[in-house]
Amino acid sequence: MLKGKTVVIGVSGSIAAYKAAEIISLLKKLNAEVKVIMTKSSTRLIGECTLQTLSNNPVYTDMFSEPFRWEIDHISLAKSADVFLIAPASANIIGKIASGIADDMLTTTVMATEAKIFIAPAMNSKMYLNPIVQKNMEFLKSIDYKFIEPGSGILACGDEGIGKLASPQDIVDVVAGYLTSKQTLKGKKVLLTAGPTIESIDPVRYITNHSSGKMGYAMAREAVSRGADVTLVSGPVDIDPPKGCNVIRVKSAVEMNEIVLRESEDSNIIVKSAAVSDYRPKITHDQKIKKSNDDFVLELERNPDILKNLSKIKKSGQVLVGFAAETENLIANAKSKMEEKQLDMIVANDVSLKHSGFKSDKNKAVILIRGGEKKELELMTKQELSRIVFDEIEKL
Ligand SMILES: Cc1cc2nc3c(=O)[nH]c(=O)nc-3n(C[C@H](O)[C@H](O)[C@H](O)COP(=O)(O)O)c2cc1C
Repeated sequence: MLKGKTVVIGVSGSIAAYKAAEIISLLKKLNAEVKVIMTKSSTRLIGECTLQTLSNNPVYTDMFSEPFRWEIDHISLAKSADVFLIAPASANIIGKIASGIADDMLTTTVMATEAKIFIAPAMNSKMYLNPIVQKNMEFLKSIDYKFIEPGSGILACGDEGIGKLASPQDIVDVVAGYLTSKQTLKGKKVLLTAGPTIESIDPVRYITNHSSGKMGYAMAREAVSRGADVTLVSGPVDIDPPKGCNVIRVKSAVEMNEIVLRESEDSNIIVKSAAVSDYRPKITHDQKIKKSNDDFVLELERNPDILKNLSKIKKSGQVLVGFAAETENLIANAKSKMEEKQLDMIVANDVSLKHSGFKSDKNKAVILIRGGEKKELELMTKQELSRIVFDEIEKL
């Protein structure tokens, strides 16, 4: 899969340095050429010999190491990289790169490379949330360094929180995705919504629906792999967001409406796959409603129609795509939604089918496209469906 591609991997002094071994091993299994640079600190945490053996290449640690050759290692390494991955990345290495420091083999090679740089941070949560580290990361993101965000959990130091290195498989998926994808959406901003909304009745009860967010998250993953700048506005779901996108979490339809309208301003492609509640309780009680012997009537009022609001402010050249989850009259309902909301495309799926729709990893959909074209698709994974939907979006 990655034959002919070179990944230069920089390993820095994080306790997660041992995970570099698995990252290298996974990259080699995909037939990538892997070249390793280690910082001095990282050599105290994992042996050079391990990474040398796994990568089948010499490991670089010292800019002035013997034997000295006419070829300058940091320049030739920098040139050879199709992708430069720093995993794990310490707070120190992030700070040095953000400050333009080039005082060892890793930072000097980073400075010299023109390859895409991915950084997978790993550190104690206090370090990760330190405003200096945050500012350094913000700056690097602003000059198009890609971050493979860490996860949360119990850290090596015993603390619990954010800072855990992303899983080796996730890291390799992002790198492999970048190396194999067509990068056809590079420079485009894609705004996606996913998951359900929840509408509070009182502090303990709410109205929601069965949406798992899997379809929207698969769409986000596909957009990231095509090189887009992706913003995912997500209702409450239990799945991890795809690496490499900006996630904004919301609860209610009103919140989602506000964020989506704001983010839509400079978006080229807007895909609404969230299952937004049409109604919300007219009154949200501050205290838990006590049961009584009488029946209880819950009065509902309309939520904002986000797609309709988007269609009113749609700019020329923007592509607006909706999803329709139906249990009957699939095509007729999807068609009228498409017309009413002036969509360029609608992906309709019958959520009453077995093995398809809400919570499932698969979906059976019909795509209706502006101009009247209709594509009836087989049952397939949501990831495969995302690929087809984005192929159609690109045609628009
Ligand atoms: C056992 C041990 C574990 C460490 N783990 C981390 C870590 O996970 N993340 C981090 O940013 N720094 C960690 N540090 C601190 C760094 O190693 C230290 O800041 C060092 O200067 C980093 O150098 P480098 O960025 O050149 O590799 C650790 C230090 C030790 C002794």
